[in-house]
This record gives sequence, structure tokens and C-alpha cells, in this order.
Amino acid sequence: GMTTPIPSPPGLPILGNATDIDPNFPLGSMLDFANKYGEIFQLNFAGRSVVFVTTQALIHELCDEKRFQKGVNAALKEVRNGVHDGLFTARIEEPNWGMAHRILMPAFGPMSIQGMFPEMHEIASQLALKWARHGSSTAIMVTDDFTRLTLDTLALCAMDFRFNSYYHDEMHPFITAMGDFLTESGARSRRPGFTAMFYRSANQKYWEDIGILRKTAEDVLKARKEHPTDRKDLLSAMLNGVDTKTGKKLSDSSIIDNLITFLIAGHETTSGLLSFAFYQLLAHPEAYRKAQQEVDEVCGTGAITIEHMKKLPYISAILRETLRLCPTIPIVGVEAKNDEVLGGKYHIPKGQPLALLLAKSHVDPTVYGETANEFIPERMLDENFDRLNKEFPDCWKPFGNGMRACIGRPFAWQEALLVMAMLLQNFNFLHDDPSYTLQYKQTLTTKPKDFYMRAVLRNGLT
Ligand code: HEM
Repeated sequence: GMTTPIPSPPGLPILGNATDIDPNFPLGSMLDFANKYGEIFQLNFAGRSVVFVTTQALIHELCDEKRFQKGVNAALKEVRNGVHDGLFTARIEEPNWGMAHRILMPAFGPMSIQGMFPEMHEIASQLALKWARHGSSTAIMVTDDFTRLTLDTLALCAMDFRFNSYYHDEMHPFITAMGDFLTESGARSRRPGFTAMFYRSANQKYWEDIGILRKTAEDVLKARKEHPTDRKDLLSAMLNGVDTKTGKKLSDSSIIDNLITFLIAGHETTSGLLSFAFYQLLAHPEAYRKAQQEVDEVCGTGAITIEHMKKLPYISAILRETLRLCPTIPIVGVEAKNDEVLGGKYHIPKGQPLALLLAKSHVDPTVYGETANEFIPERMLDENFDRLNKEFPDCWKPFGNGMRACIGRPFAWQEALLVMAMLLQNFNFLHDDPSYTLQYKQTLTTKPKDFYMRAVLRNGLT
């Protein structure tokens, strides 16, 4: 039948649309294109083309795993230089994905995650203590301190390793190497291949950073082998787990790939979520008041426990609404398994990379109405949330889709709930600069840029 051409902005020969993208904020450029072209558009980068999809209806089609599968292109392909076929960056047909998935899924079950609560609590308390000691006259660099929190939590819970980030102004060398490695992976994916020779020293540093990441993970693995424990953490699952399908265990190099993968995948996203959540609370005093009231009623002034986690529906709704408006992974990639027709009219060739522009589909007015761009946690309370997802499937996708959805979601959720509760219980927060307006910092994930708060202790620290 007839098909409709997919709109595409005109580009330069060879470079295509590469120069239309703001290197410091690619997402902003993509949102501009979405506003201009609507539900679908195509960008070309030096011989590579990507089709962007921006509405709930079309994204619902892309979530059909019979027709589309995760694509490992652009920056993710570059991240493979450091972590190969680890869980996040593996192509679906690579055997190490299935093995790691089957071996690690049980380690993310409800009992395992609940078992991590005491260690999560310990790191969250360290943050509260730091902010209490700083006092209300100190401007807190919100994203940096949440990044310290999420990294230390992940490393402690997953592999019994302490970065002790609150005790150093300088981040641990692993953390600096990881940040630089991710930024450079993104930059490499936007540079045409033939320019590589102009980036000699960047390349050298890139491979040195990968060396630091792998050496650190190797040391953690070696230490565990030399001092076996009966801890039931991710590292134990990786070392001892036997794949039900193949009867095999993960190789040492696959364990190293996955240790680094968890440190990467498991910290920036949650740190961004917490930072955006506090930004939204400060911008919406009524939501802030309700959140603090819920914490006061449920947790009182005593220690926060695992039982409290199930009793914080309003805080949960705040986290969901934050991830709707500010998805920390704003774009997810898939590719067509066969020749396809999307939306009944757009021809998509087999293998075509497509991008789910979550930052746009999450504000689709068909789903969220006239208030789509407003922060309204009430619409994310369980009942409303379930109704929305039933009526508009795949309208809220911050954790990805299907088999390749986020394995760490229960981990992130428990950690974020606990931290929100503990901080709201102990402090009143203010903007450091009341005229602050939201700007984004984008690496592989997004975060609020230059966002500072002040923390005023409410009573004593609990
Ligand atoms: C996958 C988001 C926290 C580990 C994903 C994907 C998304 C996502 C969108 C799919 C990516 C794709 O399709 O290419 C988030 C968000 C988080 C979060 C928004 C926090 C708010 C975590 C945590 C961990 C983690 C805490 C580890 C403990 C992973 C892994 C995958 C993944 C290993 C790959 C799974 C697979 O392909 O089998 N995440 N994530 N994430 N996430 Fe998360």
C-alpha cells in the first residue's frame, strides 16, 4: 500500500544532521525537532539514520517485542568498549545476555532487595549526617551528593565495597574514570569515524579510563575470591550462580563486565531521579507539604524501617511523576526485526534503528490532557496510575520495556523511597537561589544542572 514519508530536517552532505545537535544537550535539540515535526522524524548522522518516535500510540507499537528489539547503537555501542556484552550493552542474541539475566534475576527479587535495606539505610544516614553538620548556611550541590549516595549504596549492597565518597572531596579514581568514559562514549558516537585521527589524546585517555574501571573491578573480584563470605549479594550471585539453561557459570571477564555495568547503570539514574524530585518539591510547595505530612504520619520521629516503605503512596507518586516529566534515561533505542509499517503508514526497513523519545511521549496530551506538562503527583497514585497504563499502554516507560527493561527497578525504588523519607523527616529544604530555573546536564543520563539547596534541621537527627 501507500506509505507516508518520514519528515527529516535537511542536513549537510556526509555529516547529515550531526551539526544540528547541541553537543552539550542533545535531548534539547531532539525535543525541538519533535515540536517541529510531530509524532515521527528521522535524523541522519554521517551515514547512520535514526527514526525518532514521540507519541504514546507509536511507542506502544515499538514496545511489541515480536516486532522490535533493543538496539545497541550510538553511545551504547561505544560503552561496549569498556563492558562488552554485559547485561545492559549485550545484543539480545549474545549468549552472555541470557546467562547473566537468568543468573541475576533472583538477586533482584523482593527478598534480596529487602535484605539490602540495612546497608541502604547506613549510606542514607551518612548523607543526612553530612548535611546536618554542614548546617543551613552551606549550599548543597544536590546532584553531586546524591551521586555519592547512589554509588556508595550500590557498591556496598552489590559487592561489599566502600567508596566512602562522603569522606573525600575528590571522587574515587574509579568514579572520575567512569564519568569521563561515559561522556567520551557519547562524544565518540557523534563523531564521524574518519575524524578519529584528530582525537589521539582523547582516545588514549579513553582506553586508560577503561583500564582503571577494569582494574578496580578485578580487584574487587579477587578480594572476594580470596575471602569468601556467605553474603547474598550480587557479586555472590555472579560468582556462584549456575545458569539453569546451559549449566554454566559466568566467566571472570563476564563478571567484571557486569560489575562495572551495575556501577554505571545503577547510580546516575537514581541520583538524577532524587535530584529532580527535590527540584520538583521545591517548585511545588503544596506537593512538598503533603509529602512531608505523609512521612511525619507514617514514620514519626523514629528510625525509618523496611515496613514504612510500603506505606508511602504519595512519595511513590512523586517519584513516578518526576520520572514522567524528567525521565533520567530520556531516550531508549530499538530496531525493527523485519520490514515494518508503523502507525499504519510509515515504512520502516528491517534493522532500522528507532529511538523512543520518552521525554516527549511522557507529555503526550492524548494521555495526560491539558495538564500534561504540569507536575501533579495525584495522577500517579496507584489507582490512577493503573487506570492510565490500562487505557494508554506504554504511556510511562522510564524503566524501559519487556525483557530488556531495568533489572534494578526494585533496588532503585527502595533506595529512592528511603532517601526521600529520611531527608523529609529530618530537614526542611530551601532553594539556595530562589530564582533558579531548571536546566539540564546530559551525559548518558540527564540531571538538573547547577541545582543547589540548603538543608535546615527540623529537630535533632533521627
Ligand atoms: C536497564 C532505567 C536504576 C541496572 C534500564 C533501562 C532503562 C533503565 C530505561 C533500559 C535501557 C534500554 O532499553 O536500553 C533506570 C532508571 C533507574 C534505574 C530510570 C533509576 C531511577 C537501575 C539500578 C540498577 C540498574 C539501581 C542496578 C542495580 C540496569 C541494568 C539494565 C537496566 C543492568 C539492563 C537490563 C537488561 O538489558 O537486561 N534501566 N534504571 N538500573 N538497568 Fe536500570
